[in-house]
Amino acid sequence: MCGIVGYVGNQPAEGVLLNGLKRLEYRGYDSSGIATLDDKEQPHLVRAVGKIAELEKALIKTPLTGNMGIGHTRWATHGGVTVENAHPHHVENVFLVHNGIIENFKDIKAFLKKQKFNSDTDSEVLAALINHYYKNGTKLEDAVAKALKKVRGTYGIAVFSPLEPGKIVTARLGSPLVIGLGNGETIIASDASALLGYTRKAIYLNDGEMAVCTADKVNVFDLSLKVVDNSPEEIEGDASQIQKGGYDHFLLKEIMEQPTTLLNTLSGRVDAKKGTLRLGGPNLTPSEINKIEHVVIVGCGTAYYAGLLASYYMEQLVPNLTTEVVVASEYRYRSFHLPKNSVALVVSQSGETADTLACLREIKKRGVKTFGIVNVVGSTIAREVDGGTYIYAGPEMSVASTKAFTAQAVAMLIFAGMLAGHRGGDPAKLHQLAEELVALPDEIAKVLKKHQGQIEKLAKKYAKYEDAFFLGRDTAYPIALEGALKLKEISYIHAEGYASGELKHGPIALVDETFFEVFSILDNWLFEKSIGGLQEVRARGGRAIVFTDSKREIEADDVVRIDTDIKMITPLLINVLQQLFAYYVAVKRGNDVDQPRNLAKSVTVE
Ligand code: M6R
Repeated sequence: MCGIVGYVGNQPAEGVLLNGLKRLEYRGYDSSGIATLDDKEQPHLVRAVGKIAELEKALIKTPLTGNMGIGHTRWATHGGVTVENAHPHHVENVFLVHNGIIENFKDIKAFLKKQKFNSDTDSEVLAALINHYYKNGTKLEDAVAKALKKVRGTYGIAVFSPLEPGKIVTARLGSPLVIGLGNGETIIASDASALLGYTRKAIYLNDGEMAVCTADKVNVFDLSLKVVDNSPEEIEGDASQIQKGGYDHFLLKEIMEQPTTLLNTLSGRVDAKKGTLRLGGPNLTPSEINKIEHVVIVGCGTAYYAGLLASYYMEQLVPNLTTEVVVASEYRYRSFHLPKNSVALVVSQSGETADTLACLREIKKRGVKTFGIVNVVGSTIAREVDGGTYIYAGPEMSVASTKAFTAQAVAMLIFAGMLAGHRGGDPAKLHQLAEELVALPDEIAKVLKKHQGQIEKLAKKYAKYEDAFFLGRDTAYPIALEGALKLKEISYIHAEGYASGELKHGPIALVDETFFEVFSILDNWLFEKSIGGLQEVRARGGRAIVFTDSKREIEADDVVRIDTDIKMITPLLINVLQQLFAYYVAVKRGNDVDQPRNLAKSVTVE
């Protein structure tokens, strides 16, 4: 949440910072700002409310000179969306951008007694505290370290002072920071996507570390200013991955590129001929795999739903295994116990979600082995798990998660297949799973091609509604939850996902002609029961769209029939069509599909 950039080098800083902020805009977009320091050691500051485009306009009126500076794009936590609350904040000579939350900001305010504040933010309080210690020739890093020792909460910060030109001090605790090492330039950012095209070498700060950055050098310390060994790593990806590539929106690009990204997720992991599935990351020996009795899957939002989907398959495929799927924001505070021989799958696209990270740490405290199912390479969760796998979906720029969901589910299905293969799972089922996973990229491509026009038309028809139910049974149930989340996130239509069997236990009271229902009906042993739910809704005036792989007769307002040889993992095909549906509804309603209101991509605060 919130994006930070910093630059010190040989180019005009404004352009580099603005470019970085545009790439990080998905992390928060209610206001933004840039501060630079020019050659005459004069600081300059411009801030604006709204998206980065507003800052860009302000910078045309007031260009900023200088080869060093810091920038920020905000997702408000403390204080409303105003210019005063936008970052960078400055208190005398201390210019600061901050991600995270300073929990004891009131105590610090009381401690600083006479200090006047211009904003309602906890971040300005931190700037003031640093300034408090930044007196009488103290070095900036000393003042930052002293201040941070007094702070309770989370932070990723970048700080400069006109008194020490050419230097930016950064630090992190619970909020990511990566420092790109260029040729005579150093770029700081809250995620590596802002560094693409500038450098491939970067230092990922760990919690409790700070760094003093100049154009030619980066020194990493702990808060006692003891030197820390933190070696540079290679950044993956290239700048083309974070461009729209001819699409109107990142969301559409990310839906459409799933056939390609899935090839990366599957690469080297599934052998359809042998019916074998293997994930290298968990590094489990066959005897360790045999001992696993319980799998707990942890995630938030879409990652949680991907886990829920995977759990259905795990139960079906792996003998003698219990599974549990938990919402990280709840689980972290529960007095949970995990049975002996449990393992945890920690699922996160960003690898930075605060609740999921907190769960990971709680689970580790209980001595349970943790495996990450993570997209962003080098992210905090990826670094803290005992083992794990990247899903290789590539950068996901749209706030609503699409290709990551499919890749997360597929990675966990491979995990399930690996367990089943070692524990006497039904070989026929494993063969089928392996064959269907290998076929999935092409099947998704076929389905998208065939149904895109139909879905666009449907979206136009249903965009006027304000309420929707998404319904499904068994493996179509997690898909119903995910379909509802996608629609509400970007269209702002009130949408709820339910297990169809639950309808009669309350939700059906809401059904009338003002609602529409989206049913996912699989051609399996629950077909008739699912049709029963559909009829009950239609009898009460509800409008129904049905997604199905069945050729059997179905009476509904609209039926999307998927023609595929896939049988076991059809929900993943239905889901991409639900993603398209949400996309076109949001476009029809004139919404900002890539950056929907109130949301941010990476939820790094509670
Ligand atoms: O980065 P993560 O996968 O940990 O994020 C979890 C959720 O915040 C995320 O999936 C969120 O629900 C998305 N906006 C869904 O589209």
